Amino acid sequence: MENYILEMKNITKEFPGVKALDDVTFSVKEGEIHALVGENGAGKSTLMKVLSGVHSFGTYKGDIVVDNQVQKYHHIKDSEKAGIGIIYQELTLVKEMNVCENIFLGSELHSNGRIDWDKSMHEAKKWLAEVKLNIDPVVRVLNLGVGQQQLIEIAKALSKNVKILILDEPTAALTNEETKLLLNIIRNLKTKGVTCIYISHRLNEVFDIADRITVLRDGKTIVTENKSDLNEQKLIAHMVGRELTQLFPKKKHTSGEVVLEVKDWTIYSQETDDIALDNINFQVKRGEILGIAGLVGAGRSELMMSIFGAWGKRLNGDILLNNKRIKIHNPHQAIKAGISLVTEDRKRYGLVLEMNIEKNTTLASLDKVSAGGFVINKNEEVVVSNKYVQDLAIKTPSVEQLARNLSGGNQQKVVLGKWLMTEPQILILDEPTRGIDVGAKYEIYNIMNDLIEQGVCVVMISSELPEILGMSDRILVMHEGKITGEMLAEEATQEKVMLYATGNQ
Ligand SMILES: Nc1ncnc2c1ncn2[C@@H]1O[C@H](COP(=O)(O)OP(=O)(O)OP(=O)(O)O)[C@@H](O)[C@H]1O
Ligand SMILES: [Mg+2]
Repeated sequence: MENYILEMKNITKEFPGVKALDDVTFSVKEGEIHALVGENGAGKSTLMKVLSGVHSFGTYKGDIVVDNQVQKYHHIKDSEKAGIGIIYQELTLVKEMNVCENIFLGSELHSNGRIDWDKSMHEAKKWLAEVKLNIDPVVRVLNLGVGQQQLIEIAKALSKNVKILILDEPTAALTNEETKLLLNIIRNLKTKGVTCIYISHRLNEVFDIADRITVLRDGKTIVTENKSDLNEQKLIAHMVGRELTQLFPKKKHTSGEVVLEVKDWTIYSQETDDIALDNINFQVKRGEILGIAGLVGAGRSELMMSIFGAWGKRLNGDILLNNKRIKIHNPHQAIKAGISLVTEDRKRYGLVLEMNIEKNTTLASLDKVSAGGFVINKNEEVVVSNKYVQDLAIKTPSVEQLARNLSGGNQQKVVLGKWLMTEPQILILDEPTRGIDVGAKYEIYNIMNDLIEQGVCVVMISSELPEILGMSDRILVMHEGKITGEMLAEEATQEKVMLYATGNQ
């Protein structure tokens, strides 16, 4: 008999119109790091929500067995008591509260009927040290970066004495450095006996850290294997259900005339008043994918948002569209001029979670679905939103589904559909495949190729070097608010891009 700390047996979970989990079996050994992988919508997050009691006992079929006892969690508190801690795909800290308050939120430390702040501070420091985070617990969370927030989530879980720690896509928004740090902390927890369930679309991380790997596809368990019995290609085949021989469907495009030209573009930061973008000059040509590489914080998103009229103070410089100078003061003008921006933070800028797919899709193009710009034509909305669901292979029972209920990757596709519907001349994609599975990435790359063939210019910001090298025709590299390098894709190597990105060239 294997020594399993956790067994999930024959778990089935249905939502209206969706069988999210279909007789799933998932067993985790004590002290291992067990990776859970699969395409967007495969059921990974749902399985973990069943485990943690977010989907309470009685709303699913099957058994959860921890330490050989069947568990009936009605609430997340119940699973916490049993030593299960979950860190969700989207961070859930309260931004206005400080670090200490967040760590003990809902589990406040009391003495004599009051919250014991001295003890809380003392304990908070202890847990922060455990995740190697050197910050004062009274700092408010909104002043911290996502990497630090992720570590606070872990500290919070540890403070509840977790035996099983679940991390759902913890590195999706982290820099390479932060990712390394996080992986080390997880390894460290393992040496202390914590069992870890690790969900990620970044297969290199999975191979780096996991002992065993389970693949879900369409709500079913496909395999559980030792890492040593798998390689990346085999794993991808299990995930997508077929051999994927090529990760990047790169086509050679021939670039044409200059469509967009940005000249002497200098922008002051919205937050501080410092120069954030320093004399930027570049062109976007028809028929090419322009890749923008650089480390997080290099100013890539700020550059694109400032062009889009959504960021920055005191703009100096010019934007020329088809050789004509244009002024863009807000996103509405940018969209009218034919520029669309798919931002990296889909929750903040891209998607209204309480609206359905149909409404989200048409949100930026209401004039296209309304007669004379007044009355929205409901039938037209249904038709176009269905078209994008089909074109982008969005996994959903219907366009009536609320965005909130879609898996992370499918939310990203809805955002993409919304901007495609504006029929832009220039489509700017900021980290377009973050949190997206390999199969869907491939589909998105194909869509980019199709757009190029239709004459749309595509600008792609990406922190994934293989993606930059695999899909771009030309590459700009940024470092500290400046463009430090430009090269054609055929001249580019990872090393060369990194040299420019770190300002060493
Ligand atoms: N609350 C809900 N209501 C309706 N459907 C839901 C709900 N939560 C999840 N689903 C559906 O269940 C399926 C599995 O979703 P889940 O979020 O578990 O996928 P995932 O494997 O975590 O994907 P991703 O990699 O994109 O995060 C999807 O089809 C999703 O739309
Ligand atoms: Mg998920």
